[in-house]
Formats: sequence, structure tokens, C-alpha cells
Amino acid sequence: MKKKIILFDTTLRDGEQSLKSNLNTQEKIEIALSLEEMGIDIIEVGFPMSSPNDYQTAKKISYIIKNSKLCGLARCKEKDIDLVYKSLKKSNNFRIHIFLATSPIHITTKLKTTLNKVIEKISFMIKYARKYTDDIEFSCEDGSRTPINDLCLVVKTAIDAGATTINIPDTVGYTFPQEYYNIISSLKKKVDNIDKCIISVHTHNDLGMAVGNAITAINAGARQIEGTINGIGERAGNCALEEVIMALYTRKKSMHFFTNINYQKIYHTSKIVSNICNIPLAIHKAIVGSNAFSHSSGIHQDGIIKNKKTYEILNPQDIGLNKTKINLTSKSGRAAVKYHMKLMGYKKNTYDINQLYNKFIKLADKKGQIFNYDLEALAFNSKIENSTEYYSLIYFNIQSNSNLSIATIKLKCGKLTKLEAATGLGPIDAIYKTIIKITNYNIKFIQYVLTTKNNTEESIGQVNIKMKYKKKIFHGIGLSKDIIKASVISIINCLNNIWRSDQVQKNIMKINKF
Ligand code: KIV
Ligand code: ZN
Repeated sequence: MKKKIILFDTTLRDGEQSLKSNLNTQEKIEIALSLEEMGIDIIEVGFPMSSPNDYQTAKKISYIIKNSKLCGLARCKEKDIDLVYKSLKKSNNFRIHIFLATSPIHITTKLKTTLNKVIEKISFMIKYARKYTDDIEFSCEDGSRTPINDLCLVVKTAIDAGATTINIPDTVGYTFPQEYYNIISSLKKKVDNIDKCIISVHTHNDLGMAVGNAITAINAGARQIEGTINGIGERAGNCALEEVIMALYTRKKSMHFFTNINYQKIYHTSKIVSNICNIPLAIHKAIVGSNAFSHSSGIHQDGIIKNKKTYEILNPQDIGLNKTKINLTSKSGRAAVKYHMKLMGYKKNTYDINQLYNKFIKLADKKGQIFNYDLEALAFNSKIENSTEYYSLIYFNIQSNSNLSIATIKLKCGKLTKLEAATGLGPIDAIYKTIIKITNYNIKFIQYVLTTKNNTEESIGQVNIKMKYKKKIFHGIGLSKDIIKASVISIINCLNNIWRSDQVQKNIMKINKF
């Protein structure tokens, strides 16, 4: 029979404590609601003693979250435990999480005490907390660097005192998987009351082993995994829960465990955490990175188109994402080009694949990434590749103050020259409104991303934009030392893509008439 793995999320506590600026109550509520919707069993909402904001937020969340159990962190101190209780008592389902360091280095140099005193305190405080709830988790901070006999003694004492979950953190992300396996199996073998508790692990990622350690600990007998969404957390972060979840799911034939997770919500929750915490994801981040389901090499693309399982072990739809992406770059083969033409609804007999592919490779070499509208242009408008840009910048002027910005832009539009001005809430808004006045395009800004290349005085701003026009997404890129100029260039680049696409559509209509 499959066994349940309890998922304990600490994005709002261990994750939040690593952020450059604290999350406000509303932001924390939004994340908590997403975690609940995703099916997380236990949400650690904060460390109430650490700040009045943490306390108030925990209290507010306790009125809102109904399905996940809530948990608050406390040091081994009565006042911390009292405050966790005070903040969560309105929830009918809460846990008090108490921690104290157990490793020699922490006991002697940080706490300046002895193991015996630590053990006494743990026992006293767990008994104290039991007056509030019988759901008590105890964490042996730096447990993975605690000598195994000391750890066994601490764990036995904590269980005798009334702890129902025992957490063994790898606080500094130092442990190797085989060592973690040995720690958990030793506890199972040597601690006589171990069956009265759930063993939990809390792994950090300093050596990149957080997820591997969590999976190994499950194999050794751990039944609760602690981590955060996207792996955010102290230093190199915590165990990324979405990775553990998908590892258990993908390898279900060899891992006989299940979780309560609503898989469809994984991607959405990851996006919410990334946006609210202002931590963009690396494109290659496992499970939720933008490249996790996109394929670039021609050989891989050919394999994927024939049978997805050749290069994809996960189904993007399972985590609430739309589909696999086949990138169009100079590494792509004919299979990828045909695939995109088919996706756009073009039958094989409406274009010449050899001619199209030759043009595609030339353009991809020049441009890098190719989009569907570029392919259409190459396939159906022979003049396009050599045509100069329809829109080009002659002049712009931006005036900005704290309330308003005014943009004046002069554009060459084919043979005409147009000059317009508009006001906006900030320079980009003003530029955008002026451009709409000039072109009359019914376009909508979807994305504006500013990045800088080489972080020196010589750095260059790169603006990437996405706009929606006639239900299609168009891209624009602009590079300049002046970020306003980079913005204007990116919009004009996008306008040229839109104009070209319109010409191609007219051409296709003409072809279809004859
Ligand atoms: O990393 C750690 O040891 C912790 C404990 C407080 C659980 O975050
Ligand atoms: Zn931690």
C-alpha cells in the first residue's frame, strides 16, 4: 500500500526570512491561499516572536486558511510558545514548532551551554507547549551535524515529553544523501519510542543536495518533508517542494508514496511566490523554469515531435502548464519548422519546406530566436526578408516629473513621417500611448522586462517586450545605454514585426483568392 508523505511548507517563514524586503500581510495571505489551494498539508506561517508583523499576519491567516494545518515557529522559550498559541488559536487546526540547536558547535559556541541542559530545556518546553495543543513538532537545529548518540537521546526525550513530529534539519546543507539515510535509519533502529512520532526532514541546499537528501530520507523512513516553493530560503535556499512532489509522482513505480497535492496548481503557485517575493526563476529551474519544457536541439526536437517520451519525463499539463515548447533557433531542424507551420494551421502543400528551411536558417543565424510570425513571413512573403524596417525612429523627447510624463516621438512610417505626443503615468506609458496615436494599432502591452548587461558604468540596458495584437503575441527587443531609448527601440522593433505580419496576412488572403 502507498504511504502518505506530509508536505510542510515554510515559504512564509524560512523562505521569507531570506528576502531582501519583508512581505506584507496581504502578500503573505495571497501565498498562504495558493499553498492551501495546492494542497499543502502544513503551512508554517511565520515566527511570531520575531516581529509584530509576523505575529499579526499569523493571526490574520488563522482566520482565513481552513484546509491546511497552520504552524508557527518558537524558540525554546515560554514567551515564544505563548505567542504562537496566541496567534494561531483561532484556527481549529494548528501546530507549535519548537526548535533548539543540538550540535556541539551550536551548543558550545552559540548557546554556551551543555547537552544535558539542552535536553532538560527541550523536555520542559515541549511539556509546556502541550497545554496548548497535542500537535507539537520539535526540530533539532543542526541535527545532521549532531553525533548520532546525542541525537538519539534528544529525540527520545522530545518524544517522551510529548512531541509528535521530530524534525532533523540539515541546517547548513552539509550532509550527503547516504549520510542522511544513515541518520534516519539509526534513529529508527536506536530510539525505542520512535514509532510514536512522525520523522521529518528539513534540508538546505548549500551543496545542491536538498532535494536528493529529502528523497533519500523518505526511503529511510521520513514521512514529512519540509521545504519552500521554488526552493527559496536562507543562503542557497531550502528544499524545493515542487521538485520533491514531482520526483515522487514521476517515479511512482519505484517510490511507493503519495501526497495530497493538486498538481494542476504547482505552476501557478510557483509564479505567485516568484512574483510576490520578487525572485525571478532561473530559466533552467527544475519543474517550473521557463526552459523546463522547451527543447532546442534539432535532434531532441525531432524526437519530441515523434514521441514526447523520448526527451520529456514530465508532462507540462500535469503541473498546470500548457504545452511543450519547441524553440525555433538555428539549432532546429526541418521537423521543428514543419511542426510550427502545422500548429499555425498551414498544410504541407501550401509552402515549400526546403525553401522555407533555407531562409529560416539564414534568419535564425542573424536573429537568434525565431517566432511563428517570422516563419509566416518567410513562407508567404518573399519580399519580407530583404525589406527595410517599415517603422524607424527619427526623434524622441521625454519629459518626466513625479506626476506625469510627456513623450514626443517622430517616426518614419514607410514613406511618411509622423509626429505625435501623449502623456502617461511614467515615460514608458507615455511612449506607448504616443505610439498608439501614430500607428492606430489596437495593441496591448503584455510584458516589459528590463535587464542590464555587464553591471558596470558601461552597462547596456536591454528591454524585451511582448504585445498582443489580433490575438497573437509579438516580441520586441531594444538595446541601448539609455534605458528609455532601449524601450523606444523595443517598441518600434515590435511594431515592425506586427506590420510585417499584417502584410503577410494580406498576401495569404491574395494567394487564397486565386
Ligand atoms: O534550518 C533549520 O534548522 C531551521 C529550523 C528552525 C527548523 O530552519
Ligand atoms: Zn531552515
